[in-house]
Amino acid sequence: MTRESDGTTDFGFETVAIGEKQARVNDVFRSVARRYDLMNDLMSAGLHRTWKSILVSMLRPPKNRPFRHLDVAGGTGDVAFRILEAGGPQTSVTVLDINGDMLSVGRERASGRYGGPIAFVAGNAEALPVEDRSLDGYTIAFGIRNVPRIDLALAEAHRVLKPGGRFLCLEFSKVDVPGLDAVYDAYSFNVIPALGGAVAGDADSYRYLVESIRRFPAPARFARMIGEAGFARVAHRPLTGGVVPIHSAWKI
Ligand SMILES: C[S@@+](CC[C@H](N)C(=O)[O-])C[C@H]1O[C@@H](n2cnc3c(N)ncnc32)[C@H](O)[C@@H]1O
Repeated sequence: MTRESDGTTDFGFETVAIGEKQARVNDVFRSVARRYDLMNDLMSAGLHRTWKSILVSMLRPPKNRPFRHLDVAGGTGDVAFRILEAGGPQTSVTVLDINGDMLSVGRERASGRYGGPIAFVAGNAEALPVEDRSLDGYTIAFGIRNVPRIDLALAEAHRVLKPGGRFLCLEFSKVDVPGLDAVYDAYSFNVIPALGGAVAGDADSYRYLVESIRRFPAPARFARMIGEAGFARVAHRPLTGGVVPIHSAWKI
């Protein structure tokens, strides 16, 4: 989390200058982009697919009217593809990500499956290249904890949504259930970096991903940050024993 007083923030368990974090995060996703989807399946035993489908079922893109959606930190397109499948012919989705390597994989996956209603755009969640009050929906899945200035990203989400627009965020959380927390920690700190080393050739990047979950604010605190950005009806729904909360809010 950003410490405004001394200009530092977390990069996993390290403390770095805020200005340094994004470059470090970009190195992580540049390194893992080609193996990112396979690793998600292996690390979560396919569960990330269910979590993303639940996110989209909460968004409920309409079948019979225009719906303009932005999936921020959209990476290889998983959430965007599900929104297009759930929506109607007037649903359009922009996948925005700061990392060109992740977007390249997304474009390849989309080609042949989806045409006009999907766009892949390079951009920063902290300064969206999007007009004020122009979108019906905003999602960010497993992205917000990588963004150096979370408060700026939330303010941008609020700026670009129309009144009545929906904000949804899927993010990992620490587990507080006694017993499950020890199992989760053992799996996270031992199995995931080893898997990252074997499959993606990069244990350090997966160590960062695990550590960054531990540094991300607890759901109640993150919900307060969403409210401070101006959102209303802020709520969170725990999935899989609290491993993954979905945060939901509205711009009114
Ligand atoms: C763990 S991946 C999530 C990808 C995808 N949403 C999913 O659920 O599979 C995190 C993504 O956040 C992107 N990211 C990190 N910092 C960002 C920023 N400041 N603005 C936009 N995207 C960012 C990374 O490039 C990466 O693609």
